[in-house]
Amino acid sequence: MHADHPTTLVPPLEDNLAGRATAVAHPNIALIKYWGKRDEQLVLPRVDSLSMTLDIFPTTTCVRLAPQAEHDQVTLNGEVARGQARERVVAFLDLVRAQARKKLPAVVDSENTVPTGAGLASSASGFAALALAAAAAYGLTLDATALSRLARRGSGSASRSVFGSFALWHAGLATGTATEADLSSYAEPVPAPGLDPALVIAVVDAGPKAVSSREAMRRTVDTSPLYEPWARSSKDDLKDMRTALDRGDLAAVGEIAERNALGMHATMLAARPAVRYLAPATLTVLDSVLQLRRDGIPAYATMDAGPNVKVLCRRTDARQVADTVRSAMTAGSVLTARPGPGARLLPQDTR
Ligand code: PMV
Repeated sequence: MHADHPTTLVPPLEDNLAGRATAVAHPNIALIKYWGKRDEQLVLPRVDSLSMTLDIFPTTTCVRLAPQAEHDQVTLNGEVARGQARERVVAFLDLVRAQARKKLPAVVDSENTVPTGAGLASSASGFAALALAAAAAYGLTLDATALSRLARRGSGSASRSVFGSFALWHAGLATGTATEADLSSYAEPVPAPGLDPALVIAVVDAGPKAVSSREAMRRTVDTSPLYEPWARSSKDDLKDMRTALDRGDLAAVGEIAERNALGMHATMLAARPAVRYLAPATLTVLDSVLQLRRDGIPAYATMDAGPNVKVLCRRTDARQVADTVRSAMTAGSVLTARPGPGARLLPQDTR
């Protein structure tokens, strides 16, 4: 399972301007969902997942070592981060510092173009960009697999945003030592020849979610009688999905993605107390997706930890799908994404 990705994504320190690096990463949307952890500390998932990285909503993050500073300084979209948002970044920097055997604090500046915390995968692009920029600034030499593992520790789904287009995140070994488990859980690219998809995103509500995905996963795994059956069926979904991607069969990809997502939401609805991210506006959009299919347009929906709907369709149908979905909505906005690039470092402006 240990596929090698020889490309060194993070160059050695001397290639970076003395302890400073800027990285860009895009969000991804899972077609086979990650839902449920088996190890919270190491962010090890209970199921394999598979996603498409988008070409919209990039996060750009600059990490600069600050020998004079006493603490890390974190700015998100121009505002000094506090509380949990700051703690997550500092905890992640601590991981990087431990790997790099360096103690220096850092200044982190992150610009996110996606609404934060609305189930639009802002943590995926955020931690993929932070992982790459921090690794480079602290002088770690990491290949794509190692970078994916590192990004996973910030937010599970970030492990997939290291790669462009389609990526599969291995849940990894369920037995063995913590180190073995950690090493076995990373994402890798999945080819999808012949697929020319678009993802139409219906943002029915861009506000932050009431329950974090972390808490919702925990509650689902601990209390939902539907969780184990879904996790088992997800294995079959993944197998079928790989075949569908191989064949470039968009209708099959969409059908599998839709059933996997609805199943995931069913697990949450059965949690005690229930976690319900789907809003009335979500169901209205789902109805419009059904209508598109009745009209002969292959369009399939997936939803994450929020009420927004992402509709997978052929690129050539994207405009019609976007128009139909938009006309079903009374508020919000509709965007269209295509498969996007993996995380990358930006050239430094001054050398
Ligand atoms: O990586 P997190 O903690 O934001 O969890 C993401 C979970 C889902 O978006 C609901 C599913 C997925 O696989 O991305």
